[in-house]
Amino acid sequence: MKRFILLVLLSSFGLFAQVNGEIQVPYVDFPMKKGKGEYSTRGKCNMCHSFGYVINQGKQSREFWLEKTVKMIETFNAPIADKDIEVVVDYLFTNYGSKSEESNSSKE
Ligand code: HEC
Repeated sequence: MKRFILLVLLSSFGLFAQVNGEIQVPYVDFPMKKGKGEYSTRGKCNMCHSFGYVINQGKQSREFWLEKTVKMIETFNAPIADKDIEVVVDYLFTNYGSKSEESNSSKE
């Protein structure tokens, strides 16, 4: 009987351990710059990964952002309509752009 009580006690510790205390998940926020197209870009580029993927690229040309956006659509099936590509690329280039329209060979 003693052994049984001990067993019950021991097994119940495990149960309490699982529900005891709050579970904290680290939250990493990548703020997006305010501007035209921000809302649309937020919805279209943050559904699979964080905006950190975009920020990590540094300032890039319009061509670079267009290529990345097309890559997301063609390679990963991102649901971005043709008419929205320009809005997203404009936003990315205006806020995270290198001021150069075309990529030069040293980039990418
Ligand atoms: C359908 C899902 C999906 C959507 C929507 C999406 N991406 Fe991605 N993206 C991915 C995947 C998958 C990767 C590769 C992840 C990895 O390699 O770890 C990626 C990687 C990236 C990278 C890293 C560089 C590279 O070439 O892989 C950038 C930059 C990027 N995405 C930008 C964007 C932008 C900008 C948008 C909005 C126009 C966007 N993504 C929307 C799925 C998506």
